[in-house]
Amino acid sequence: MKLTFRDVHVAYPGRETPALIGVNIEIAAGQRVALVGRNGSGKSTLILTANGILRPQQGAVMLDGQPVQYDRRGLAALRRCVGVVFQDPDDQLFTANVYQDLSLGPLNLGLSQAEARQRVLQAAEQCGLSHLLDRPTHSLSGGEKARAAIAGVLAMTPRFLFVDELLHHLDPWVRREVLRLLCDLASAGCAVVLATHDWALVRTWAQHVIWLEAGRIFRQGHPSAVLTGPECPDLEGAPC
Ligand SMILES: Nc1ncnc2c1ncn2[C@@H]1O[C@H](COP(=O)(O)OP(=O)(O)O)[C@@H](O)[C@H]1O
Ligand SMILES: [Mg+2]
Repeated sequence: MKLTFRDVHVAYPGRETPALIGVNIEIAAGQRVALVGRNGSGKSTLILTANGILRPQQGAVMLDGQPVQYDRRGLAALRRCVGVVFQDPDDQLFTANVYQDLSLGPLNLGLSQAEARQRVLQAAEQCGLSHLLDRPTHSLSGGEKARAAIAGVLAMTPRFLFVDELLHHLDPWVRREVLRLLCDLASAGCAVVLATHDWALVRTWAQHVIWLEAGRIFRQGHPSAVLTGPECPDLEGAPC
């Protein structure tokens, strides 16, 4: 399965400069992709466009070569394939307890309570949350919240998982756990796209890098080809 952006332009209402300008990307099943670029370069906009929260004014988002349809059915079909974990788990965890939270996505996809339950139990197991399903969401630790946010998306069994800077507020131990989970997902065939400022991670983890600058693709390709030259912030010497 492939997710393609073809010449995608996205502008926010009332903003003169578009947030994405002529973006062409292709993401394949099981790929580990890093999305990098300065604050405001368009990473979150790209992610919101990938699952149809934002709609391009020009160009197309395509699943296996078929342009996304922006009616209810088309968006539901897109969101069955493309999941998003937002930067702040608190933007994503809404309800009284973890079980209810994880079942929101599958129920929204139109699955029955029984089917949703099966999905929730599986996602909870994958993310090491099985023992926390009855816990009030607000009582979870930061790492547990991050894993719950991922599990809520996994319960929709996405083929493409976009993760928006989630790792940044995790301690290094939990971060490692979450990265291991993301690696396992990619090995199982789910493409994982990680927006991050962690260049050391990008160099070692990613198979493909998408580098945005002011809404345009600045470079993309294998880390060894893309992450070279003085534009790379981590190649300069120590700051003092
Ligand atoms: N809801 C919004 N309304 C108007 N402009 C926005 C909105 N969200 C983001 N932008 C603008 O779009 C550009 C890209 O932002 P964003 O995609 O959030 O970048 P990044 O995730 O790389 O930091 C920035 O100029 C930002 O100010
Ligand atoms: Mg962002």
